[in-house]
Amino acid sequence: MAPETHSPLPLVVLISGKGSNLQSIIDACTSRQINAEIKAVISNKPDAFGLKRAQQAGIPTHTIDHTQFPDRASFDVALSRLIDQNQPGLVVLAGFMRILTAEFVNHYMGRMLNVHPSLLPNFQGLNTHQRAIEAGLNQHGVSVHFVTPKLDGGPVANRAKVTIESDDTAEKLAQRVLEQEHRIYPETIGWFAQGRLKLENNQAILDGHPVPQLEKTFT
Ligand code: GAR
Repeated sequence: MAPETHSPLPLVVLISGKGSNLQSIIDACTSRQINAEIKAVISNKPDAFGLKRAQQAGIPTHTIDHTQFPDRASFDVALSRLIDQNQPGLVVLAGFMRILTAEFVNHYMGRMLNVHPSLLPNFQGLNTHQRAIEAGLNQHGVSVHFVTPKLDGGPVANRAKVTIESDDTAEKLAQRVLEQEHRIYPETIGWFAQGRLKLENNQAILDGHPVPQLEKTFT
């Protein structure tokens, strides 16, 4: 493969928890699977294990504890100030479990991705694995999407399907979905870094073509 000629895409990664997706992105950057560099990791929870993963990789970390703010808007202002100090080309939500204000989302429109553990637009919100099992489905999965003001509703850029087995529990299914998250999230960030993926007219465009979206069949 020819060496990369352009500078790495600066990323800021937002987390709330264990940071296994963060780890997959750190690994993809370190191994040069993707041409990107994490400038900062920000958590809204002081005890998020992902902060340790970042520190171990020598990445600057910050905590902005949402409980210390009177409302969502003031938290989002502080968060966005810190993000912008790092001048990211892409903001990566990796298990960041906060609903963001429309002002915040609009500020990063077209340059913010999220990973969600379902085949969107099905099963937005929480407890997606349990809900997919209870719906009697045999297929579940994960989506990477551009973030828009519609919660878990932005255009999907990449997805992976996971078969639901007859003896699945939410925990077992979540584990297999997570393996796919760790594969497709770095892949999608890599596409963005290469300029192959964009948000245009509320559509995810990959290599010049709209990424097909699924029908909503479950809530
Ligand atoms: C992941 O499964 C991610 O898809 C999910 O949280 C988990 C975080 O794991 N995100 C959402 O549900 C967002 N709505 P991680 O901290 O190990 O990356």
